[in-house]
Amino acid sequence: MAVETPLKGNIGDSIKRKEDDRFIRGKGNYLDDVVLPGMLHMAIHRSPFAHARIKSINTDAAQAVPGVVAVVTGALLAQHKLAWMPTLSGDTQAVLATDKVRFQGQEVACVIATDPYVARDAAALVEVDYEVLPAVVTPQKALEPGAPLIRDEKEGQTNNHIYHWEAGDKAKTEEAFAKADRVVKLDTFYPRCHPSPLETCGIVADVNPATGHATLYMTSQAPHAHRTLFAIVAGLPEQNIRIISPDIGGGFGNKVPIYPGYVVATAASLLIGKPVKWVEDRSENLISTGFARDFHMSGELALRNDGRMLGLRVKMLSDNGAFFADAQPSKFRAGLFHIVTGSYDLPAAHVETDGAYTNKAPGGVAYRCSFRVTEASYLIERLVESAALEMKMDPADIRLKNFIQPEQFPYMSATGFEYDSGDYPRAMQLALDKLGYQELRKEQAEKRKKGELMGIGVASFTEVVGAGPGKHYDIVGLRMFDSAELRVHPTGKAILKLGVKSQGQGHETTFAQIVTEELGIPAADIEVQEGDTDNTPYGLGTYASRSTPVGGAATAMVSRKLRDKAKKIAAHLLEASEADIEFDHGKFFVRGSPSKSKTIQDVAFAAYTNLPDGLEAGLEGVTYYDPPNMTYPFGTYLVVVDIDRGTGQVKVRRMVAVDDCGVRINPMIVEGQIHGGLTEGFGIAFMELITFDEEGNCLGSNFTDYLLPTSWETPKFEMGETVTPSPHHPIGAKGVGESATVGSPAAFVNAVIDAVGHLGIRNIDMPVTSDKVWEALNKVGAAE
Ligand code: CDP
Repeated sequence: MAVETPLKGNIGDSIKRKEDDRFIRGKGNYLDDVVLPGMLHMAIHRSPFAHARIKSINTDAAQAVPGVVAVVTGALLAQHKLAWMPTLSGDTQAVLATDKVRFQGQEVACVIATDPYVARDAAALVEVDYEVLPAVVTPQKALEPGAPLIRDEKEGQTNNHIYHWEAGDKAKTEEAFAKADRVVKLDTFYPRCHPSPLETCGIVADVNPATGHATLYMTSQAPHAHRTLFAIVAGLPEQNIRIISPDIGGGFGNKVPIYPGYVVATAASLLIGKPVKWVEDRSENLISTGFARDFHMSGELALRNDGRMLGLRVKMLSDNGAFFADAQPSKFRAGLFHIVTGSYDLPAAHVETDGAYTNKAPGGVAYRCSFRVTEASYLIERLVESAALEMKMDPADIRLKNFIQPEQFPYMSATGFEYDSGDYPRAMQLALDKLGYQELRKEQAEKRKKGELMGIGVASFTEVVGAGPGKHYDIVGLRMFDSAELRVHPTGKAILKLGVKSQGQGHETTFAQIVTEELGIPAADIEVQEGDTDNTPYGLGTYASRSTPVGGAATAMVSRKLRDKAKKIAAHLLEASEADIEFDHGKFFVRGSPSKSKTIQDVAFAAYTNLPDGLEAGLEGVTYYDPPNMTYPFGTYLVVVDIDRGTGQVKVRRMVAVDDCGVRINPMIVEGQIHGGLTEGFGIAFMELITFDEEGNCLGSNFTDYLLPTSWETPKFEMGETVTPSPHHPIGAKGVGESATVGSPAAFVNAVIDAVGHLGIRNIDMPVTSDKVWEALNKVGAAE
C-alpha cells in the first residue's frame, strides 16, 4: 500500500488554507463583530439629488429623537478644518457637504446614537433645503462648453476637465499609420461597475479621551498608508493612531480609498469621547463608494494586409465622478499605459487619456485590477478581434502572428515599459488544444449554414502587477515597497508579520509556504499576522495583486536573511567552518557528510541557548522589499457561446482558461483566485451595470438592479497552466489575483461578436444582455 507523505507546505503544495479553520466555523472576526463598551452608532444622511446647492440644514428633529447623542454637519466639521479631505489622486473631496451636493448619495450629515436603528431613523429626519441644479452624467456632456461647473469651489477650475496624460511616440505612430495597408477602428465603452464585496465598508473608531490614542478598526486594504493619511489629515500624532484591519470579507479595491464615514466616525469619537461604529448598508456601498471603470475608449490598429500589426492609436475618456478619487500611483495611469499594447509586438503606439468630473459617485478604484489595466486589456483584445473579423482572419492566427516571442523578453513596449517574461504562443496553443478549437470551428461553420449562431471568443491578455519599484510608483508620495518581519521562536515555531493585508486571498497559508520553502519550518508551525499597524512592519497594502510580487518577495528575502544567520549557528553546532555548511529543506549539514546534520529547529533553539562567540541572540529579522520591476502574468482565455435568435439570450457553453502566473505557491489557491476572477469577469460581461438617468439618479443601487452572478448563471471553467517564472522575483512568482477579471470580459464579448460578426455586427457594449443582443440582431434583420 502506498504511504502518502503529508504535504509540509513547500512551494507547489496545495495544502488546505490555514485560515479556513475559523472561517468555515463562523469564527472569523469581521468589522461588524467588533463591539466595545459604551459604543455608539453612526448613520449617514445622504443627498437625494445629484447636483444641488444646500440652502440650509435643520437638524432639530433628528437631534430631538431619544437616544440621539449628536448630529454632525459639514459646518461643524469645518470648524475643525475637516469638512474637506484630500483624495488619493491629489484632489479634494467633501467629507460632509457644505456648499453643494455633487452626486446622489453624497454624505450630508451624520447622526450618532446609542442604537444603530435610532441613528438610521434620526438620519432620515435631517431636513435639508436644496436648490436643485442641472446634473451632468456623461463625461462628453461634462466637457461641452457651457456645461454646469461641478467643482465651482476649486480655485482656478473653470470647466469639468481633470487631467490629460499621454504615453508612447506620437510621430512614430503617425508614420506607422501612414505605411499601413489598412486601419481597423473600434469605439467601445467599459461601463461603470462596482467591486461590491460581500462585506460592506465600516469602522469602529475608539479615541481614548484620557490618552488621546485612537484605535481604528477599519475595513482597510492598506492600514499603514491609511494611518499616515489619518495623521496628516486629522493632525494627530502618528504614534497615537493604531489601525486594525480585522478579517475582511472581500475588498477587490473597494477598501482602498478613505471614505467620509471613516473620517466622521473618528471625529465623532474624538469629540464625544466614546467609541463610534459605522457600517454602511448595501445600497450605500453601491451608490457612494469606489466604483470601477466608466471608460469611453477609441482604438485604431494599423495593419499590413498579411495581418501584421504596425501601430496602435488610443484615445480614452474617463468619467471620474464628482471628486477625482481614483486609487492609483500619483505620477500617471500606470497600468493603462503599461499593457495597452497587450501581448503584441507593436512597433509604435500612442495613447491619450482625459478625465472629467460628472455628478456621479467618485472613486474609480482598480476593481481587481492594477490601475486601469482591465480597460486597456479589454480595448486591445476587442480591437484585435475587430481586425480579425474585418480581415477575415482566424482570431487565434492573427494573435499568433503578432505575439511578442519568448526570446524577445525582457521586452520593451512601445509605451516604454519592460515586460519581464512570457511565452504567449505556448499558453495559446495549450488553450486551443484543451478546447478542441479546430473541431469547434468546423461545428460553427456547419451551424452557420443552418442559420444557428455559435461563437468562439479568444483573448490573450497580458497583465501587470506588483507595484513598485518605489522610484516610479507612489501613493500620495508613499513609495510602493512592502515588508516582512520573521521571528523564529526557540522551539522552532515562527511568526511572520506582513505589511500587506488579505481580504480572503489565503495569505496566512501561502506566505507561510514561502518560509517553509526557504527555511524548512512546516507551514503549520508558522503564524502569519497582518493588518495591525502597531504589530506589523510598514507596507503599502494589498490591491492590484501586489501581495505576492512584493510582500511575497519580502518574505523570501527575510527568510534568506535568517537562513544566513542560522548557517553560522549550525556551523558552531556542527563544529565546522560556515563555508562548509550546506542547507537542504530545513537541514544544515557539512558538505559531503549529510548524515551529520542539524535541523532548523535545533538551530532555532541554539539561537537562544548556545551561540558562537560574538553572535547576537535570537533568530529574527525584517526586510523592506522594493521590487526592481513589476511582474507580467498572462494567459489565453477561450469561450464558446450559443445565441438564441428569438430572445438574444447568450449561453456560455464552455470556457477554457490557461493562466501563467510564474511559479505557483499554492496551486489550489491560485485556481480559486482564477475561478473567482472569471466569475467576476462573467458578471461584468453579461450582467453588472451601475447606470444613471438624466437627473443623475443611480439605477444600480441594490442587488435587484445591480445583478451579480450566482452559481446558477456562472459557467463551468476548464483550467490549464503554463509556468514562466519572473526573472526578478526571488521565487519566480507573479501575481494572479486579478488576471481573470482583467482577461475574461474580452473573451466573453469576443465570443458573442464571433457569433454575430458575419451579420455585420461589430460591437455590443457590456453588459451584453439579451435585449441588447436581440436589438443588434434585429437591426441587421437577423432576429427571430
Ligand atoms: O495581492 P493579492 O493577494 O490580492 O494577489 P496575489 O498576490 O495575486 O495573490 C493571491 C493569492 O494567490 C495569495 O494567497 C497568493 O499567495 C496566491 N498566489 C500563489 O499561490 N502563487 C502565485 N504565483 C501568485 C499568487
